[in-house]
Amino acid sequence: MAVSVSDSIDLNTQIDLLREALGEGDLGSAQTHLHALRERYRQEASAFDRSALVELKRLSEGLKLRQQLKETFGYASFRPGQETVIQAVLAGRDALAVMPTGSGKSLLYQLPARLLGGTTLVISPLIALMKDQVDALVEGGLRATYLNSTLSAEERRARVQGLHQGEYELVYAAPEGLEQSVGALLERLDLKFIAVDEAHCISHWGHDFRPSYRNLAALKERCGNLPVLALTATATDAVARDITEQLGMRDPLVIRGSSFRANLHIHAFKKAGAKRDSAVPPTREAILRLIQARPGQSGIVYALSRKSVEGTAEFLQANGVRAKAYHAGLPAEERESVQEAFRRDDIDVVVATIAFGMGIDKSNVRFVIHRDLPKSLEGYSQEIGRAGRDGADADCVLFYSWADVMSLDRFTEDLDADLAALQQRQIRDMFRFAESTECRHKQLARHFGEGISDCRSSCDACSGRDLLAEAPKRAKQARLASAGPLKAPQPIPDSEEEALYLRLKDLRKRLADARGVPAYVVFTDATLQAMARFRPQTPEHFLALSGVGLKKLQQYGEAFLAELTS
Ligand SMILES: Nc1ncnc2c1ncn2[C@@H]1O[C@H](COP(=O)(O)OP(=O)(O)OP(=O)(O)O)[C@@H](O)[C@H]1O
Ligand SMILES: [Mg+2]
Ligand SMILES: [Zn+2]
Repeated sequence: MAVSVSDSIDLNTQIDLLREALGEGDLGSAQTHLHALRERYRQEASAFDRSALVELKRLSEGLKLRQQLKETFGYASFRPGQETVIQAVLAGRDALAVMPTGSGKSLLYQLPARLLGGTTLVISPLIALMKDQVDALVEGGLRATYLNSTLSAEERRARVQGLHQGEYELVYAAPEGLEQSVGALLERLDLKFIAVDEAHCISHWGHDFRPSYRNLAALKERCGNLPVLALTATATDAVARDITEQLGMRDPLVIRGSSFRANLHIHAFKKAGAKRDSAVPPTREAILRLIQARPGQSGIVYALSRKSVEGTAEFLQANGVRAKAYHAGLPAEERESVQEAFRRDDIDVVVATIAFGMGIDKSNVRFVIHRDLPKSLEGYSQEIGRAGRDGADADCVLFYSWADVMSLDRFTEDLDADLAALQQRQIRDMFRFAESTECRHKQLARHFGEGISDCRSSCDACSGRDLLAEAPKRAKQARLASAGPLKAPQPIPDSEEEALYLRLKDLRKRLADARGVPAYVVFTDATLQAMARFRPQTPEHFLALSGVGLKKLQQYGEAFLAELTS
C-alpha cells in the first residue's frame, strides 16, 4: 500500500502511524513507515530522543516478528499472549505458558526457532504426534526433525549427522531420549533454546505425571543455562510452581491464557429415556441425525462402555456413516488403523471410549458428541478440547440423564471411600453442569477458577439454538443422496460458497494423499473456509489468506487458484 510521508509530518505522529499499521496487521505500510523513519534518523538523528529510539526498536522488532509469522506460518496477527511470550524468549528469558488446547502454544517455540538460528530442542512426551508435527512444519518450510524410538538405527544416524551439520532449526525428542543418544548429542549441538511441551507431566501434582520428565530437571544447567520455555494446557498454581522449580527456571515469565474458546459451541440434551412424546429422539437416532446433518465433517462420539461404543458404531455404519469403533479392548493394530483412517479423513467419525484422543493432533475435528455423561468436568473439557483446534467453529453436544449418574456411580463401588466420594462429587458436578441453564462456558471457566462473562453465542443457554431441531432438513437430503455403508454420503451444499468449499476439500484430500500427509496439514478447515468466502484470484490475494505462508503458496497456490478461478 502506498503511504505518502511528508517531511513536515511530526515525528511522534509518524511513529504513531507505524504503530497503527502494525496493530492492523498492514505489514506493507508498516514497512514503509519504518523505512521513512530510518531515513529521517539518518538525516537528523538529534530529533530522536531516547524514548523514541526505544519505541522504534520495539516496533521494528514487532514488524520483524509479524513478517516471519506471515511468511512461515501464514498468519496475519498473533493470538493473545503469543507475542509477549515470544519476545521474552527472544530476549533470553525463561517462560511458562499455561494456555488452552488449540490456542497456538507451538508457535511460541517454532517462531523463535526460526529467528534464533542454531537449533531449538523440543521435548514432548507424545511420540505418536512427532511425525505429524514435523511433517506440518516441513510443509510450512521449517527445517525440522525428530529423534525417537520409532526410527531405524540407520535413519537415526542420518538425522544425528544432519543435526551435527546444523541442518535443522528444530529437533523434537522424547524425555526418555535424554538418557540415551539425545543426551549425548546435547553438548555437540549449537543449541539456542529448549522448549518443554506438556510440561505438567513433570509434576507429581499434575494429572499426568511421567517419571521420565524428571530427566529434565538438570537440563537447563547441563545446556549452559539456555532459556527454557515450558508449555501446558492445564496447570494449577501448585503445578505451575512445580514446573518452574523443577526446570530450574530463573525469574520466569508466567503467562496464563483464558480457557474460553468461542469457536466451541456447547449444547446439552437430556436423553429421551422411555418417554415416547419427548421432543428429543432416542439418543442414537439423535446422534445419527446430528451426524447426517454434517456430511463429510470429522467428529468424535464418546460413549461410556465398549459395548455401547460398538453398538453405536454399527448403528451409524448401517445408516451410511463412515464410522469406526475405538476402545482399549481392540487389538493395537486395529486401533492404529482407525486412528490413521481418521487422521487421513478416510473415515468421518470415530466412536470411542475416553481412550481416544491422546496422541491425535487432527485440527479439523468439527464435532464432539458425548453419548453419555462424562465422569468429570475435567475429562469433559479435555474431550471437547479436541474439537476445533484450527479455530473454526465446532459443535460439542452432550447427551445426559440421571440414569448415567447411576451407572457412573457403579464404577466407584470398589474404590476406597475417599476416592469414591470424590468421584461421586465430580459426577454430580458434571450432571449439574448439564442441567443448568447458565452460560456453559462461564460454568466451565468458573470450575477452573476463572471468571468470564456470558459467552453470548457459543452455548445453547446463551444462543437459544436447538441443534437437533436444526438438523432434520439437511439430514434427509444427505440420506437421499447416500448409498450403503462406508461410502461417503454426498453432501448437498446450501450455497455456492459451500459448494466451492466442498470442492476445495476434495482437492486438499487429493493433494494430501499424494504427499502422504493428513489433509489438515495441507491447509486447515479454517483456511479453506476463508478461501471459499474470499475467492482469491491472484497469488497475492491467495497469500493474504490466514494460514497461507510463502512455502504453501509456492507448493499449492497454483492448484487451488485453478479451482478458485474455474
Ligand atoms: N496467530 C495465529 N493465528 C491463527 N492461527 C494460529 C495462530 N497461532 C497458532 N495457530 C493455529 O492454531 C492451531 C492450534 O495450535 P497448536 O497446535 O499450537 O495448539 P496448542 O496450544 O499446542 O494446543 P494443545 O494444548 O492441544 O497442544 C494450529 O492449527 C495453529 O496453526
Ligand atoms: Mg501443543
Ligand atoms: Zn454461553
